[in-house]
Amino acid sequence: MSDESGLGITNFLDIDDLDAAGVEQVLDRAEALKSGADQTQLSQKTLGMLFEKPSTRTRISFETGMTKLGGHAIFLGPEDIQLGHGEPLKDTARAASRYVDGIMARLFSHEDIETIAEYSDVPVINGLTDDAHPCQTLADLLTIREHFDDDVNVAWVGDGNNVGQSFAIGCALAGIDLSIATPPAYTMDETVIERAKELGGDFTVTTDPKAAIEDVDVVYTDVWVSMGQENQREEKLAAFDGFQLNEELLAGTDAKVMHCLPAHRGEEITDAVVESDRAIVWDQAENRLHAQNALLVELLGQ
Ligand code: CP
Ligand code: NVA
Repeated sequence: MSDESGLGITNFLDIDDLDAAGVEQVLDRAEALKSGADQTQLSQKTLGMLFEKPSTRTRISFETGMTKLGGHAIFLGPEDIQLGHGEPLKDTARAASRYVDGIMARLFSHEDIETIAEYSDVPVINGLTDDAHPCQTLADLLTIREHFDDDVNVAWVGDGNNVGQSFAIGCALAGIDLSIATPPAYTMDETVIERAKELGGDFTVTTDPKAAIEDVDVVYTDVWVSMGQENQREEKLAAFDGFQLNEELLAGTDAKVMHCLPAHRGEEITDAVVESDRAIVWDQAENRLHAQNALLVELLGQ
């Protein structure tokens, strides 16, 4: 597909499909929508939502979002459509895009979402792959913008996973300083760090969570065992010993805590921290809706 949106992009496969101005444009629109600006900008538009993995927030926020925008969303689980019964992904993309106005997909392989984008005639949005979760990053940056002024320092503590990788690049685009603490075997992909640095990202990278959270305003974590990694559970739980966000680790700081959710209480975070005043996780969850609606208007509404 060649027509570009108001953002100058056709697809949103990772956060650096946008430049810094594009991120700001989406966040500005998200704030306006959240404050009550006209929501009915996608009348008669349909979003196809393809899910290979489970979801609570992504599914509900996109489906509700399309309703609020005056359009419609269709949930497509692989078992419900011919994709789960042998039809190639590229044929699914070509056929679906003859009906719908946009495709949002949550997939295992990042290459697969690139394939959908290659064969789709309509914009494609990444609703999470093994490598990236850019819609989460938009919501995270909106949440940080709401809670802090421009001079904010953030720490990522835990797995160098899909959520962390898009967030690191997003921080570079938004001019946010980031400390990253992961176990040595679970660092972010080097190419991701390179992409973020090329965008001006300012990072401290360590394997010491206590050092990473010193003097930061926010500490962000995610599950240690992501969807599809269930067979690595024992080795990952052992590797992440000492990385749990608990009151002991957070003692001496008044940092807020972010988590994309779902939280696995007792693993990467304690119940007490999720339930404490530190947690701004419900704002993050809500902001999925506003940030994605802004993105949908930009990509599908032109
Ligand atoms: N944060 C997030 O993407 O949540 P879901 O897996 O529930 O969609
Ligand atoms: N890293 C997690 C995020 C879930 C929203 C996963 O991929 O399962």
